Amino acid sequence: MNILGIETSCDETAAAVVENGKTILSDVIASSQALHIETGGIVPETAARRQIESILPAINQALHKSGLTKEGIDAIAVTHGPGLIGSLLVGVETAKTLALSWKKPIVPVNHLVAHIYANFINESPQFPAIALVVSGGHTDFVLVKNHGAVEYLGGTRDDAAGEAFDKTARLVGLSYPGGPAISKAAAPAIESRSEKLSLFPRPMLDSGTLELSFSGLKTAVLNYTNENPSYDTNLIAAEVQEAIVDTLVSKSVFAVEKYKPKSFLLAGGVSANLRLRGKILQALGRETNVYVPEPKHSTDNAAMIAVASFYNYKPTPWRDIIANPSLSIED
Ligand code: KG4
Ligand code: ZN
Repeated sequence: MNILGIETSCDETAAAVVENGKTILSDVIASSQALHIETGGIVPETAARRQIESILPAINQALHKSGLTKEGIDAIAVTHGPGLIGSLLVGVETAKTLALSWKKPIVPVNHLVAHIYANFINESPQFPAIALVVSGGHTDFVLVKNHGAVEYLGGTRDDAAGEAFDKTARLVGLSYPGGPAISKAAAPAIESRSEKLSLFPRPMLDSGTLELSFSGLKTAVLNYTNENPSYDTNLIAAEVQEAIVDTLVSKSVFAVEKYKPKSFLLAGGVSANLRLRGKILQALGRETNVYVPEPKHSTDNAAMIAVASFYNYKPTPWRDIIANPSLSIED
C-alpha cells in the first residue's frame, strides 16, 4: 500500500510516499525557516503564504522521486491539526482536492500522533509504550496502548520544551529556531559548567506527576542576563539545555517506573537534540527499549504522516475533514 503523506502544520511544507508504513519511497521537505530567521520567529501569515507556493511543487517532487504516478498511490494522508490555521488549511484543502480528482481515499492525521510514528519507520516498537512528544508547541507524555489508543498522561502547564529553547535563544541573541542554536552554542561549555551550580531552575521535579513547567526558565534567563550584562552565551546555552534536558529526563524516568512500558518513544522536534537523546538512552536504556527517530524525522516531515495513517487507516469523507489548530493528542 503506497500512501502519499502531506504535512503543512507550521513552517515546513512536506510530502512523502511511504510503502506499507515502512519503506520511504520519497521524502520531500521545503522549509520557510530562512524567512523566519529574519523576524526572529514564525509570522503565521508569512508561513501560510510560503505553504501555498511550495505545496504543489513538493507533492510533484515526492511523486516523481517515488517512481510512481498518481495511479500507484493508494491513499492520501494529511495533517489536520494541531498547528497554525493558515498553514494547516493549505495542506488539508490541497489533499481534499487531490483525493477528489484522483478518486483516492483520504485519511486525516493528528500531527502529534504522527511524531510518535516517526519511531515506526524501519522499527516495530512494542506496546504498551510511553511516548514523550517534545515540539515547538507541545510537551506531552502519553501512554500508547496500541495503534489508535493514546492516553494523555501529563505535560507542560505553560511553555513547551521547544518554545523554551526558542524564547531563551532569542533573549541571548541566538537565531531562530532556538533549539539547534542553543545546542550548538552549548557544545563548548557542556563539560566546563559546574554540575553542582545549576544557574536555572528545574521546577516540579518532585511533584509526583507528569506535569512540567518551562515558563520560569525564560524569566530566570532574563534576570541572569540583566544582572550579568557580560554573560557568557555558551555557558547560558549549556545551562538552558541542561535545565530542559534534566527536567525531561527526570519525568521520563518517573513515567517508565510508574507505567513499566515495553518501549519508550521520544518524538517531536526537540528529540533531535543530541544531549537529550544521549541522556534519555543513558537513563532508560537498561529498563526499557528506547526509540528515537533519525534527526530528520524528529522535526516536521511527511513520512511520519504517511506512516501514522498506515497504522491508523481511517479513510474519511472529504467533507468531514476540517483543519483544527487546537486538536489534542487524544483526538
Ligand atoms: O516538531 P517540530 O519540528 O515542529 C512543531 O511541531 O512544533 O519542533 C520544532 C521545535 C522548535 O521549537 C525547535 O527549536 C526545536 O523543535 N528543535 C530543537 C532541535 N531541533 C529542533 N530543540 C533542541 N535541540 C534541537 N537540536
Ligand atoms: Zn511537529
